[in-house]
Amino acid sequence: MKSVRFIMRNAALANVPKHVDHFSKFSPSPLSMKQFLDFGSINACEKTSFKFLRQELPVRLANIMKEIRLLPPRLLSTPSAQLVHSWYVQSLMELLDFLDKSPEDHVVLQDFVEALVAIRNRHNDVVPTMAQGVIEYKEAFGQDPVTSQNIQYFLDRFYMSRISIRMLINQHTLIFDSASQPAPSTIGCIDPNCKVTEVMEDAYECAKLLCEQYYMCFPELKLQEINVNNKTEPIRISYVPSHLYHVLFELFKNSMRATIENHECSSSLPPIKVMVALGGEDLSIKMSDRGGGVPSRKIERLFSYMYSTAPRPEITTQRRTPLAGYGYGLPLSRLYIRYFQGDLQLYPLEGFGTDAIIHMKALSTDSVEKLPVFNKTALRHYKSSQEADDWCVPKKEPLDLARNSSAK
Ligand SMILES: Nc1ncnc2c1ncn2[C@@H]1O[C@H](COP(=O)(O)OP(=O)(O)OP(=O)(O)O)[C@@H](O)[C@H]1O
Ligand SMILES: [Mg+2]
Repeated sequence: MKSVRFIMRNAALANVPKHVDHFSKFSPSPLSMKQFLDFGSINACEKTSFKFLRQELPVRLANIMKEIRLLPPRLLSTPSAQLVHSWYVQSLMELLDFLDKSPEDHVVLQDFVEALVAIRNRHNDVVPTMAQGVIEYKEAFGQDPVTSQNIQYFLDRFYMSRISIRMLINQHTLIFDSASQPAPSTIGCIDPNCKVTEVMEDAYECAKLLCEQYYMCFPELKLQEINVNNKTEPIRISYVPSHLYHVLFELFKNSMRATIENHECSSSLPPIKVMVALGGEDLSIKMSDRGGGVPSRKIERLFSYMYSTAPRPEITTQRRTPLAGYGYGLPLSRLYIRYFQGDLQLYPLEGFGTDAIIHMKALSTDSVEKLPVFNKTALRHYKSSQEADDWCVPKKEPLDLARNSSAK
């Protein structure tokens, strides 16, 4: 019996590349916040959601699996990257089982919810596992600009794809799983009236606790909000509170650490100032600290998955949240904000402090999923080699003007 199952599994595995090729030919279908909301309330229909997801999830998985296979072979062959890849293969196979099942059958719908929960759990540790693969690769082979650029390009797309897949799974399981009990005011994981400053205060309090544990002090928060549309009302938008919380928590941790490390010798700490502004189109957040900033030359590096100034955290089985760790705080936060067409930028003033600025879409029709698609343009990114700069690179040594200019 065991050997029959083994043979069947091997046969199914052999077909995986064929399925990946097939489903990656389709482009993912981005949904707007408004579609998520409409679908989760007035139009909530489990059968429709099942039919959409059993096609859309394999499409999103297959599109990114094509890119996993284009990673530098020495990174792809690390045990961590292999493990992550095997999770994707397994999840794709489990979803394909539903292609020929009837949406009219309640058992099928229930099995589908259970399969989605299992897939979500299987992929819980994708980020630290992939991070570990990158560290192993970096330690064994060092870094060269072309590979670093490829890894950055890949991880931005890979994690964005993951955010989107989890969003689809969460919406379906929260809305249709009778066992899960979402908060009454939310639709799946979306709060149609998400109070931004409430999420901000929660994120600050949690970062403050960590900061106090580690440094025995913390900077105060000065929060201001301007709602242009209705000056007396708190700012509310349709958003995923857990995404916003994640981003603000990361920004607070960074600002707190910088503020404290930059004021080690002074008796008081300058506060972190936050301004939240809602206009007709944009919701903007500016978080300003006086943590000394960083040189502008390093701004790009702050969003790199290969860089952090904090000591690397120990890999333990416990889930800890240190104040600084892999250096994924900023790049992942930017992805969460970009996922619904926003952006996150850092403007440091070296010697003084940093302004982190978030722009988000205020309207639920403008908040549309931003999804990677595997096509020729993406392929070209992985195949490109380092090209010569078309701007002169200044020399480190003083130029000897007496000698002729050098050949190209
Ligand atoms: N507000 C800030 N002021 C000064 N430096 C900052 C600030 N925010 C980030 N940085 C710098 O950018 C680096 C990267 O930040 P990022 O949040 O991505 O990673 P991290 O804080 O090192 O680790 P973690 O993954 O735990 O967030 C930090 O190590 C720090 O050197
Ligand atoms: Mg951080």
